[in-house]
Amino acid sequence: MTFDSSAFRRALGSFATGVAVITARDPAGQNRGITVNSFSSVSLDPPLILFCLDKAALSFDTFRLADSFAVNVLGEHQHELSVRFATAAIDKWDGVGYDLWPGNLPVLHDCLANLACRRETLYEGGDHVIILGRVERLQTAGGGDPLVYYQSGYRSIGPNV
Ligand SMILES: Cc1cc2nc3c(=O)[nH]c(=O)nc-3n(C[C@H](O)[C@H](O)[C@H](O)COP(=O)(O)O)c2cc1C
Repeated sequence: MTFDSSAFRRALGSFATGVAVITARDPAGQNRGITVNSFSSVSLDPPLILFCLDKAALSFDTFRLADSFAVNVLGEHQHELSVRFATAAIDKWDGVGYDLWPGNLPVLHDCLANLACRRETLYEGGDHVIILGRVERLQTAGGGDPLVYYQSGYRSIGPNV
């Protein structure tokens, strides 16, 4: 390896992404959520998506074992929600607006899109696992600008190039 971990992080950080919060309810009835920027579309037919989950996350077992989860795509007005769901060991859900979709799936309000997914497969990915989900239900806001993550900071999208 000809690079160190900070150079690797900097290189990865040059790829701008959107931000999503992955949510699920654990078997004890507790809502769980985690901010991710590793969300990606995979397949249109069948409708498949993925995200990568850190094996060290406190909610690792919840998402590893959950039959279903939701992807909540954040708008630029939801920066605080992203920070909150990226903070371990706090009450992330205090005052957060959500609906319960079929299967007791907590789905966040005011997002650009919400996707309810059935977990298909888990793949090994080094210090992360790759979770593949099949989208079973969705809603979109029909507008609004996304929250962008770039070089370890939050951004807005600018005018078209
Ligand atoms: C913008 C952003 C993107 C993130 N993307 C991921 C990700 O893709 N996968 C992941 O496991 N953690 C990601 N994290 C870190 C988790 O959100 C963070 O570790 C969180 O505290 C984990 O929650 P938990 O420990 O309560 O499960 C990201 C954090 C931020 C701020």
